[in-house]
Amino acid sequence: MITNICCIGAGYVGGPTMAIIAQKCPHIKVTVVDLNEKRIAAWNDADVNNIPIYEPGLSDVVAEARGRNLFFSTEVDKAIDEAQMIFISVNTPTKTYGVGKGMAADLKYIELCARQIARVAKNDKIVVEKSTLPVRTASAIKDILDNTGNGVQFQILSNPEFLAEGTAVEDLFAPDRVLIGGDTTSEGQNAIQKLVDVYANWVPKGKILTTNVWSSELSKLTANAFLAQRVSSINALSELCEKTGADVNEVAKAIGLDSRIGPKFLKASVGFGGSCFQKDILNLVYIAKSYGLNEVADYWEQVIIMNDHQKRRFANNIIKTLYNTVSGKKIAFLGWAFKKDTNDTRESAAIYVADDLLSEQATVVVYDPKVGEEQIQFDLNYLESRSEIENAKGVQVAINAYDACNNAHAIAVLTEWDEFKTYDWQKIYDNMLKPAFVFDGRNILNKEELEKIGFIYQGIGSR
Ligand code: NAD
Ligand code: UGA
Repeated sequence: MITNICCIGAGYVGGPTMAIIAQKCPHIKVTVVDLNEKRIAAWNDADVNNIPIYEPGLSDVVAEARGRNLFFSTEVDKAIDEAQMIFISVNTPTKTYGVGKGMAADLKYIELCARQIARVAKNDKIVVEKSTLPVRTASAIKDILDNTGNGVQFQILSNPEFLAEGTAVEDLFAPDRVLIGGDTTSEGQNAIQKLVDVYANWVPKGKILTTNVWSSELSKLTANAFLAQRVSSINALSELCEKTGADVNEVAKAIGLDSRIGPKFLKASVGFGGSCFQKDILNLVYIAKSYGLNEVADYWEQVIIMNDHQKRRFANNIIKTLYNTVSGKKIAFLGWAFKKDTNDTRESAAIYVADDLLSEQATVVVYDPKVGEEQIQFDLNYLESRSEIENAKGVQVAINAYDACNNAHAIAVLTEWDEFKTYDWQKIYDNMLKPAFVFDGRNILNKEELEKIGFIYQGIGSR
């Protein structure tokens, strides 16, 4: 039986997944390690509200398990040495250099973990791929591990994570399924069973699916590709709705009632963001190309092309509607995170829309309930579209939405935070320049109410 788990990587996946394993399995000691000292210090902060990741319900889980059987540490070697099972949950970003630049997954952090495990391990270990990886990565990890010199046995499992940010805790408490892939040998099946036993502490057995390792690796990329494809599909239709007078919300409802299509993931938006959809599809495209499957690659690449178009289209529409110039105009952004209930901004549509407006010399004033100035400037500087000084001049950050909208020419809603719906919109209108425009990139505000106040309102996918 597994009684000691180590997880390398204390990020959006490693932190929450291990916190839930620790809470649900008090008999297992779980140590989450990371090279990032600041992040580990935040996980260990005496005030549990200061943990580095904002997820509804997470601080309660951490408060219960931390110090009991959940530990956060920078002592990677020690945790590897003590563990029977090691999860690798490090980042796998898109490569920014060399072969596959801008498409392939950068596996350098994965390889470093494998080499470190190989060096440290003095007894047999089960190594679990928790990060999202290209199909067949397990064989590269195995090659590295099997040439360790320490002579110990490794089993490699694939156990991709399907949680969504903002709902991580509920997703982990009650997953649609847990997927575990492993070798078809008896040793492989044995390792699979050990991980099944961990999850079976709270996940019904019928929801724990076991497969071969390649199916498991590829299923993760496939799941994200299908989800992102639905968003791009409805977004593609949103543009046609705007031209024809159809309403994308009505279309989504009408098709979603077909049980074969289903109602979820059909919200038209300013474009999907987040650290994974784009990265994972680009990775899928790269893998397909590397096997010479060009039609397969082109098919999936279109999901990204459509998403880029949707983000740019939103910015262009603001410019066009504001009489073809936003130069010197103040545009208030409500939201910067890539979705509500998270402080994560990676690949958020807001970044790209802001970048386009800054290039047109607009002043952007941002309010997000969970994202601060430092992160917003970091996100813009990362694009390298202009100097840091210019970004700092062009983008201001407000402490509340009313300040952000004060004297603005227009408001753009970039994230669907619930609080935006509850504002005193009359007060906001009174303090704006006229005509006062609202560009609702999430279709969350009440069009009729806003128009009654006097706003000129534009949502996505309707006239
Ligand atoms: P993240 O960047 O938040 O966290 C990764 C952490 O790993 C960082 O804190 C980094 O310092 C640490 N790290 C990197 N190399 C290390 C090493 N050699 N030793 C110790 N620590 C190291 O990333 P994330 O969002 O948690 O994503 C991790 C993986 O999970 C990715 O492959 C991602 O695709 C996948 N995933 C993410 C989500 C999500 O919602 N964010 C969901 C499912 C799957
Ligand atoms: C997504 C998947 O939903 C998870 O299953 C997966 O584990 C994760 O990626 C991952 O591998 O990282 P996440 O990116 O956290 O989770 O959030 P989603 O809820 O999927 O939203 C992604 C983006 O799509 C957001 O910007 C969201 O606003 C947008 N979206 C989503 C829409 O525009 N419309 C929709 O109908 C749904």
